[in-house]
Amino acid sequence: MSSPLITVVGSINLDFVATAKTLPSPGETVTGATLARYPGGKGANQALAAKRLGADVRMIGRVGADSMADEALALLKAGGVDLTGVGIDASAPTGAALLAVSEDGENQIVVASGANHALRPEHLPAVIDGALILQLEIPFDTIAAAAERASGFVCVNLAPAAEIPDVLFERADLLIANELEADFYGPRLHRGGGLVAVTWGSRGAGLFRDGARLATAEPPEIVAVDTTGAGDTFVAALTVALLEGQAPKEALAFACTAGALTATRAGAQPSLPTRPEVEGVLASGRTAP
Ligand code: RIB
Repeated sequence: MSSPLITVVGSINLDFVATAKTLPSPGETVTGATLARYPGGKGANQALAAKRLGADVRMIGRVGADSMADEALALLKAGGVDLTGVGIDASAPTGAALLAVSEDGENQIVVASGANHALRPEHLPAVIDGALILQLEIPFDTIAAAAERASGFVCVNLAPAAEIPDVLFERADLLIANELEADFYGPRLHRGGGLVAVTWGSRGAGLFRDGARLATAEPPEIVAVDTTGAGDTFVAALTVALLEGQAPKEALAFACTAGALTATRAGAQPSLPTRPEVEGVLASGRTAP
């Protein structure tokens, strides 16, 4: 089987991750955390996840003219993602995300978008061939332009939830939302006629068309270390599996397993699983290492 070709148009961040016993409530200070930095950004995470799962991947995005850019792009580069579509913007810093991660793997994220917000429609090719994956951390007119220029399968990850142009609902072959995002969009999610995947955290995910459920799947049992990037891996894995022609139930199980594996390790991009890892867990039963 030949590898699917996927273009990801989206965000590239450097993640600054403080891991503490608990997450702070509004107004609260939590001390005793440890600090780490990892390449991240929903777009970049999805690009690298798709590559590690077997796709040929091209990333289109924007970084600043600073040293954070080298760090943010390091694993994409090492992983073989085509970065010729990543431009440097001298007027803004590389995107940065501040994450708090608790002992049980939950997180809170604040993104300083920086150069991600300088990604304009004119930075996109006239036609985007192959499949396209989009998320909502770059300007909406750029997202809409990318969807309009796509000649193949379009996946839109509705994260983080925001009011977006209708064209995205109409053009998407696959919409993906977590529970909170699905609540935000309500019935609009199912009006476009494409596939809709909703993730329910450790309870798994469902795949729908026109509001009717096609399949559900559960992830393997895991001990969560850091859930950052698990949703991004799910997006990449479900897209890859559907492009390969996997049946809905099989594709959803593949995506849930890949997402769960991501949560067993710290950081976004260092924790993205490879294809053999995902297939190993699927073949061996229900428990991820
Ligand atoms: O989905 C996780 C990602 O969201 C992080 O890597 C962070 O950069 C934010 O974009």
